[in-house]
Amino acid sequence: MIVSVVKETELKENRVALSPDGVRDLVSKGFTCMLEKDAGLNSYFSNEAYEAAGAKIVSLSEAYSSADVLLKVNAPDSVEVKNLKPGSVLISFMYAATNPELVSSLSEKGITSFSMDAVPRISRAQKMDALSSQANLAGYKAVIHAADHLGKIFPMLMTAAGTIKPSKVVIMGAGVAGLQAIATAKRLGAIVEVSDIRPESKEQVESLGGKFIEVKSDDSVKVEGGYVKGVSAEFLAMQQELIAKHIAAADIVITTALIPGKKAPVLVTEDMVKSMKMGSVILDMAVKQGGNCVLSELNKTVVKHGVTIIGESNLPSMLPLNASELYSKNIIALLTHLADKDKFFYDREEDVTKGSLITFNGEVVHPSIAEKVASIVS
Ligand code: NAI
Repeated sequence: MIVSVVKETELKENRVALSPDGVRDLVSKGFTCMLEKDAGLNSYFSNEAYEAAGAKIVSLSEAYSSADVLLKVNAPDSVEVKNLKPGSVLISFMYAATNPELVSSLSEKGITSFSMDAVPRISRAQKMDALSSQANLAGYKAVIHAADHLGKIFPMLMTAAGTIKPSKVVIMGAGVAGLQAIATAKRLGAIVEVSDIRPESKEQVESLGGKFIEVKSDDSVKVEGGYVKGVSAEFLAMQQELIAKHIAAADIVITTALIPGKKAPVLVTEDMVKSMKMGSVILDMAVKQGGNCVLSELNKTVVKHGVTIIGESNLPSMLPLNASELYSKNIIALLTHLADKDKFFYDREEDVTKGSLITFNGEVVHPSIAEKVASIVS
C-alpha cells in the first residue's frame, strides 16, 4: 500500500502529517511512503531525514497519482480534492459536520475518507486522539504567546528596587487545552483563576494549583459523556456577571470554552474588556468557532480599549515540531488500526471505524453527516 504525504497548503500551516520517525514506523510495517519534496521543512524535517527513514521524495503530482492513501493535517481544499486519485483513501481533520460541501465533493469523486476529529474519544482510541494532542500543545502555546504580548512578568519578584506582584491569569474552560494552560501559567509563577461548568473540572483545576471560580450550574446546563451540550442565555448572563470582577483584575485572560458542534459561548463582553487594565491581554482560543470574546478577530491581534486581543486560530502550528510528531503518531495509530500493508479492513460495526468513516466508495456513510450533506444537495 502506498501512503503519500503532501505539503499543507492552508495559510500559516507549518505542520505535516508524518514525521521521519513516523515514516520509519510505517516502512517497518511494510507500507511504502512517498513525500512531496519539502513537505516537512516548516516542521524542521528535511528531505534527507525522510529519505533516511525510508521515504521516497517525489513531486506533488506523483504524490497524488501514486497514493492509495493520502495523509494530511487539514481538510483538503477544492483544488486538493481535484488532485485526489479516484478510489483512494484520505485521512485528515475534516470537521465534516460543518463542512458538508467537502464531504459531498469527496463522495462524488469516489474517495473513501476518515476524519481525525471524528475518532471517538474512548480509552482504547486515546493514541489516535489528535484533537487532544493538538489542544494540549495549543494550551501551552496560548500562555507563552499571551505572555509575550504582556508588558509584565508572571512571578512575584522581590528586588532591591522593590517588589513586583505576580501576574493574574484567568482561564475560561478547563478541558484539554485549558488544563495545560493552567499548568503552564502556574509553572511560570502566575496566580491562576479558572472557570468551567462541568462539575468534575473543579477538582482537576485545584489539583493543578488553580483557584476555581464557582458558577452555580442550573437545569439548562446539559453535560453528556463529559461534554457540555448546551447552556441557556440566562445561564450565560449569570456566568458573565459572576466572572466580571475576575476578568477586570486579570492581566491575561485565556478563553477555551467550546460546546461541540455549536457556536462558542460568549463569556467576555465589550464592557468586560473595557473594565480591564490597559496593557492586559486576551487570547481567544475559541475564535474559529465564533469566539468567547465579542471583540476577538479571526487570525488577527488587535488592540481595543487598551487591551491586546489575540485571535490566533492555529496555535499548534506555532509548535510545528512537537505538533507534527504527535499528529504523526495519532494518524499512524488510526491507519494501522484500520488497515495493514495490503488492505483496509472496513469493519463497519467496530467503534473507531464507524465513528471516523465519513465517505465510503462514493457514498456518505456517517449517519449524522449524511443528513447534513443531503440537505445541501436538495
Ligand atoms: P472542548 O474543547 O469541547 O471544551 C473546552 C472546555 O470548555 C470544556 O472543559 C467545557 O466544559 C468548557 N466550557 C463549555 N462551556 C463553558 C462555559 N460556558 N464556561 C466555561 N467553560 C465552558 O473540550 P475538550 O478539551 O475537548 O474535552 C472536554 C472533556 O472531554 C474533558 O472532560 C476531557 O477530560 C474529556 N476528554 C476525554 C478523552 C478520552 O476519554 N479519551 C480525551 C479528551 C478529552
